[in-house]
Amino acid sequence: QIVKLTDYRPTDFVLRGVDMTLKLFEGHTDVVTILSLERREGVPADAPLSLDGDELILASIAIDGETLAPARYEATPERLVVRQLPETGNFELRLETRIAPEENTKLMGLYRSNGIWCTQCEAEGFRRITYFPDRPDVLAPYRVRIEAEKAVAPVLLSNGNPIESGELPEGRHYAVWDDPFNKPSYLFAVVAGDLDALHDSFVTTSGRTVSLGVYTEKGRAPQAAYAMDALKRSMAWDERRFGREYDLDVFNVVAIADFNMGAMENKGLNVFNHKYVLLDQDIATDTDYAGVETVIAHEYFHNWTGNRITCRDWFQLCLKEGLTVYRDQEFSADEREPTVQRIASVRRLKAHQFPEDQGPLQHPVRPGEYREINNFYTATVYDKGAEVVRMIATLLGAADFRKGMDLYFERHDGDAATIEDFVACFEAASGLDLSQFALWYAQAGTPTLSVTERWDPEERRHTVKLRQSLTQGAAGTGTEPMVLPVRFGLVGGNGEDRQAAAEVSGEARLKDDVIVLTGREATITFGGLSDRPYLSVLRDFSAPVMLEHEQSEAERLALGRLDPNLFNRWRALDDLIAEALTTAARRPLGDGEPALKAAIVDALLASADDEDLAPAFRAQALTLPGESDVARQMRENVDPDRVHEVVDAARVTIGAKGLAMFERLSAGASATEAFSPDAESAGRRALANAALAYRCAATGDPDAAVAQYRAASNMTDRLGALAILAHRFAGEAASESALDDFFRRYERDDLVLDKWFALQATAPTYTAVETVERLANHPRFTMRNPNRVRTVLGSFAAGNQVAFHRPDGAGYRWVAEKLASLDRINPQIAARIATTFRAWRSFEPARRAKLDETLRQLSEIKGLSKDLQDIVDRSRK
Ligand code: ARG
Ligand code: ZN
Repeated sequence: QIVKLTDYRPTDFVLRGVDMTLKLFEGHTDVVTILSLERREGVPADAPLSLDGDELILASIAIDGETLAPARYEATPERLVVRQLPETGNFELRLETRIAPEENTKLMGLYRSNGIWCTQCEAEGFRRITYFPDRPDVLAPYRVRIEAEKAVAPVLLSNGNPIESGELPEGRHYAVWDDPFNKPSYLFAVVAGDLDALHDSFVTTSGRTVSLGVYTEKGRAPQAAYAMDALKRSMAWDERRFGREYDLDVFNVVAIADFNMGAMENKGLNVFNHKYVLLDQDIATDTDYAGVETVIAHEYFHNWTGNRITCRDWFQLCLKEGLTVYRDQEFSADEREPTVQRIASVRRLKAHQFPEDQGPLQHPVRPGEYREINNFYTATVYDKGAEVVRMIATLLGAADFRKGMDLYFERHDGDAATIEDFVACFEAASGLDLSQFALWYAQAGTPTLSVTERWDPEERRHTVKLRQSLTQGAAGTGTEPMVLPVRFGLVGGNGEDRQAAAEVSGEARLKDDVIVLTGREATITFGGLSDRPYLSVLRDFSAPVMLEHEQSEAERLALGRLDPNLFNRWRALDDLIAEALTTAARRPLGDGEPALKAAIVDALLASADDEDLAPAFRAQALTLPGESDVARQMRENVDPDRVHEVVDAARVTIGAKGLAMFERLSAGASATEAFSPDAESAGRRALANAALAYRCAATGDPDAAVAQYRAASNMTDRLGALAILAHRFAGEAASESALDDFFRRYERDDLVLDKWFALQATAPTYTAVETVERLANHPRFTMRNPNRVRTVLGSFAAGNQVAFHRPDGAGYRWVAEKLASLDRINPQIAARIATTFRAWRSFEPARRAKLDETLRQLSEIKGLSKDLQDIVDRSRK
C-alpha cells in the first residue's frame, strides 16, 4: 500500500503524555505503556482509536484502570483498534506488550547488540516496542522507567534528565528518566548495558552546565576522546553561528556495534554506529576522524533542526535532514578547509545523488508518495536537500538567511512543521517571493545549465548566455524552469576578479556576484572591459545542476591555474580530466594515444606541486574522477573493464610524468611527525599518500608501499599503503603478506577488520568474485552486523566495477543470492545495497541483459520484504 502526501490528516486523538516501564530480562522484555489521550475537538464520540504495531503481541489492555472486554478491541501484530471509548474523550490507556530484543535482527525497535539493549525508532521502529500513534506529528512528554539486572546492565539510559534510581529485589535495579520536551516517538531511546563512559561538561552561553557522556563498550572509553571534543566544538559552534543553545541538563552519546545507519539524534541520547565514535591514530584514518566530527555535529545539530522543530509527516524528511546536513557541512567548512570541504560535498553529491536523480529511483527532495519510508533516507533527501538550503542562503545573503533561520526557530519551536512553514520564514525575512524557488522541492531530476559566451572586440563587451532545461524522469514530476543561483566571476590574466558593468536581458537578475536565472534563458552583457576575461561560472557549485559550458581547453587550463575561486580552480581541471576519460572510455585509443593529453597532465602536476596551495587541496587535485563517475558521465553502453583500463592508464601516465615530484612528496610520508588529527596535518598525509599511489602506478613496483606499510605510525599511512598493495598488486606476494600482517595485527578490532574486508572486496580483478565468496565464509563474517555486510556486499557491489560487472555475470549472481538471504535478516540493509542495480540500463547490451535478468529473478522471490521489493520493483521501471 502506498502512502501519499496529499492524504495527510491529523490524528483523532491528541496525546498528552507517555509513561513507560521497560523490564529487561534475558530473552524477553516486558513493556508497560500508559498513554494519556484526549479526543480532538470535532471528532465524533464513537470514533475508534487506532494504533500502529509491528510484530507485536498484546499482553493486556486497560482504560482508566479497567481491563477491557475483548469486544472492545481488536489486536493484530500490526494494529490495535479500541472502540467505545469514554464519553468525555479523556482517558488513560494502559498497554502491556512482551517483545524479544534478542531475536530482533532487523535492528529496528528494541534490540541487543553485543549484550547491550538499545533502540532505533526512526522512522517506524517504536511500533515494534508498543502499540502507538507512531507518526512524527504526535508529540508528548515522556517518563521512562527501566528495570534490569544490575550486573548485566549497570548503566540505564533514556531521553531527558535522570530523576530517580534505586535497587530492586533479586539483584535488579531501576532508573527513571524524564523528558520534559514534547517529542515524537521516533526520537525515543533506551540503552542498557555494561558500558564504560567518558564524561565531560559544557557551559552554555547563558551559563548552564550540561553533563556530557560518551558511552562505549568496556575498555574503549579512551577512544571516545575525539568524539567528545567534536561534540563540545559542535555545541559552541551552534551557539556562535545560529544562536542555538542546548536545553537539557545532560547530553549522552552511545556507541553501538550493530547499527543500521550512521547515527540517530534521539533527544538527549544520541545512539551511534560505533564507527562514528571510536578512534585513535592506530585504528582510524583521517577520513574516519572527519567522519566522526561530521556525524557527531550532525546528530547534535538535530536537537534544534529535527527535535525542537520536527516534521509533520515523513514526506517532510528533508526539512530536518537537508537542513541538518547543510549545518554540518558549514560546521566542517569552519573547522577545516572550506574549499576542500566543498569539493568533498560536491564529489559526494555527484557520485550518489546525481545517479539517483537520473535513474529509476528518482524522487523529488520532498517525495509525494512511498511504499517504505526507510527507502527514502536517500542522497536526494539528504544531500540535494542540503543544496536547496544552501541555495536559499545564497539567494538571501548571510544576514537575511540568519534572520530567516531565527524566525523559523521562533515561529516553529515545538511544532511538527512542513517545508511550506520553512520557506515562509525566509520569505518573511527577506521580502522575496520564493514560490518558484520551492519547485526545487517538487520537481525531480538534475537540471542542465548551458552557458555560452561571445566576446565583442569592437565594443569591448562580453556576452554570456545562460539556458536551463529539465527532462522528465521516472518520478514524472514537472519540468518548469527553476530558480538557479549562478555565482560567477570574470577572471583577468593575472588571476584577478574584474568588475564590469552588467546588463541583463531575459528572465534573470543580478545580485552581487550571483546571476539568478529564473526563466529558460537569459543573457548578461558585461561592458567596458579592456580585453577578453575568462568566465568562471557556477562557483562553489552554487546550484546542483549539470553544467555544459562551452569553453576552450586553453581557457579552462587558464582557469585551472588562475581562478581566485579555488573551488572553480579545482573544477576546471577536474572537468577536463573527467571529459577526457569519458571520451576515451567510449572508443578504443589510437596507437600511442594517451588517455590524457600532455597539457592536462602538466596542469594537474603543476597544481599538485603548488606550495601556495593547501596540501589538502593539492591532494584533491590529484584525486581522479572515480570509475563510477566516468561510467555515469558516459550515460550509456558502459563497459566497466574499459572504464577501469582508461582510468588506470591515466594514473600511470600522470605517475610517470611526475615521478620525481611524487617520489619527493611521498618520501617518508609522516612517519616521523607526531600524530595530530587536525585538518592541516591530515592534508599533508593525504598529499603524501596520493603521491605514493602515483609513484607505485608509474613504477609498477610495490616496494615503496611495502616500506610505508611497515614504517607507518598511524592508520592513514598504513591503510594508504595497504590499499595500493591490495589493489594495484592484488594477488602478488607483497599484497598477500601485508594483508595477512594487517589481519593478525588488528584481528581483535572489528572496526579495523572492516577495512581489511573492504579492501579485498574492492580489488579490481575478476577473481574478487571468488574473494568475496571466501570472505563471506570467513569466521569473522556475519550477516548480523550491518558494518560487516556493508564492507563485503556493499563495497563489492558499489565499489568494484570490474568484479561486480564480470562479463559472465558471476558478480551479479553472487550479490543477488546474498541479498536474498540478507533480506530475511535485515531488510533495510538488503534494500540499501540493492540500489546498485538501478544503473542497469546504462551498461553495454550483454551486461544490461544480465542485470535485467538478475533484477527479474530478485523480484520473483516469494516473501521478499517490503523494503527490498520496493527497490527492486522501482529499479525495473
Ligand atoms: N535521522 C538519522 C540521521 O540522519 C538517520 C536515521 C535513519 N534511520 C532509518 N531507519 N532510516 O541522523
Ligand atoms: Zn540526520
